[in-house]
Amino acid sequence: MSVVGVFDSGVGGLSVLEQLRVRLPAQQLIYVADQAHVPYGGRPPAQVRAFSEAISRFLLAQGADLIVVACNTASAAALTQLRQTFPAVPFVGMEPAVKPGARRTRQGRIGVLATPGTFGSRRYAGLLARYAQGVEAFEDPCHGLVEAVEAGRLDHPDTEAIVRRALAPMLAAGVDTLVLGCTHYPFVQPLIQRLAGPQVTIIDPAPAVARRVVHLLAERDGQIQPGSGAEATAPTLYTSGDPRDLARAVYKLLNLDAPVHALRWRAQDSPALKLVAGSSEWPLA
Ligand code: DGL
Repeated sequence: MSVVGVFDSGVGGLSVLEQLRVRLPAQQLIYVADQAHVPYGGRPPAQVRAFSEAISRFLLAQGADLIVVACNTASAAALTQLRQTFPAVPFVGMEPAVKPGARRTRQGRIGVLATPGTFGSRRYAGLLARYAQGVEAFEDPCHGLVEAVEAGRLDHPDTEAIVRRALAPMLAAGVDTLVLGCTHYPFVQPLIQRLAGPQVTIIDPAPAVARRVVHLLAERDGQIQPGSGAEATAPTLYTSGDPRDLARAVYKLLNLDAPVHALRWRAQDSPALKLVAGSSEWPLA
């Protein structure tokens, strides 16, 4: 049976993992959170590429035969190179949903919430050029929001202040559609919706990414096992940070009590970085 690998800088990619679990309850899933390096958003693209390549190697060594880059920042920095480096492996990446956003807006004004790394990328510039002709895009990097989600502060006054500040100029300009261009942000979607108001449409690309994975698996493996209607298979979870933190986050964000395995970064295998599995495993209880 195939194994799908999923990675992100931290807990953001869990929003994609959840969509995969809903659609593919019997699918074996491996998730890597690179919490030793979160956030990726302000890091140089070359560094994000190096992390992404090493994580992909780790996932392949664990048996993954399809990899979801569940991170807009890593997709912007590394997707092209990952496909070149591992030509036999299908990679599914993420990008801000500018195209659906431009289709959806009635006022011709969309807001995009993403990281500085995503906004600074050629990939994002290409999206605007291709799909946002005649549409005004208002951007905000939501400084501090990734850290707030990592810390589980989903409805905290400080988090609300970050979102309020980001949305104010967009709402004043008449934006009617918001694109969540970072996989951490769906976890604060209720807060964003409350502050933006019910008239604003919010687009989370995670369901579309999961549908793409289902399509690729069906194309390759034939019929997808729909699952028995029982609980989804538990994913195998790894973090380069503190496994207890990820276990707590997975419980809070996905209502899932699953063990988390430790990973360590080793730089001495120069020139390439390497991720190695630690010996410890941390169940929540
Ligand atoms: N969740 C990631 C994204 O989709 C990255 C957030 C970060 O580490 O800065 O862009």
